[in-house]
Amino acid sequence: MTARARTAILISGRGSNMTALIAAAKDTAYPAEIALVLSNRPDAGGLQRAAADGIATAVVDHKAHPDREAFEREVDAVLTAHRIDIVCLAGFMRILTPWFITRWEGRLINIHPSLLPDYKGLHTHARALADRVPRHGCTVHFVVPELDAGPTIAQASVPVLPGDDEATLAARVLEQEHRVYPAALADVASGRVRLVEGQVADDRPAEYARFLAG
Ligand code: GRF
Repeated sequence: MTARARTAILISGRGSNMTALIAAAKDTAYPAEIALVLSNRPDAGGLQRAAADGIATAVVDHKAHPDREAFEREVDAVLTAHRIDIVCLAGFMRILTPWFITRWEGRLINIHPSLLPDYKGLHTHARALADRVPRHGCTVHFVVPELDAGPTIAQASVPVLPGDDEATLAARVLEQEHRVYPAALADVASGRVRLVEGQVADDRPAEYARFLAG
């Protein structure tokens, strides 16, 4: 059996995407194993959930470091100590520097709650509602130094329904996040999707891409 990609999930909060990735990786045929969950916040709810699943956890508290660089050097050291191949950001609320992103280039992915390139940054659901867009969704992408601008690995869209508020729309999108993130990690871990010179090289069959379109 080929080795599964040792994957770290970086979180800052409840970790529902983390839970979806852990559940997918319980299947030994899944090409990634979750080797570490790391949080910058000691009180992140996801840490306890991961530990209950028998997964190694680590806290690198950004407040305990004098600057962003020192914080990231420590995160990098922990990832290296755990022999991590791939890093998944899942509700990780720290902006990463080009130093860290370049170090992990092609092996660092993120999930964002909008159909990028629309609604980069925060408060995506409120902004989509204010604009009365007919569809909204989520995107998994390779991380590049420019915020929320990396090449897309997978997206799923949902309708925006009459009467939606931020909570109902967020819940509908989150359901898709939990479907798309495990699929995207599998694609990166298996090498079907790669970052090559800033572009996504994609060996997935066309019907598979359609499945992700939701
Ligand atoms: C998700 O909506 C994700 O797209 C965004 O942060 C949220 C994290 O939620 N980046 P959870 O911690 O995975 O439940």
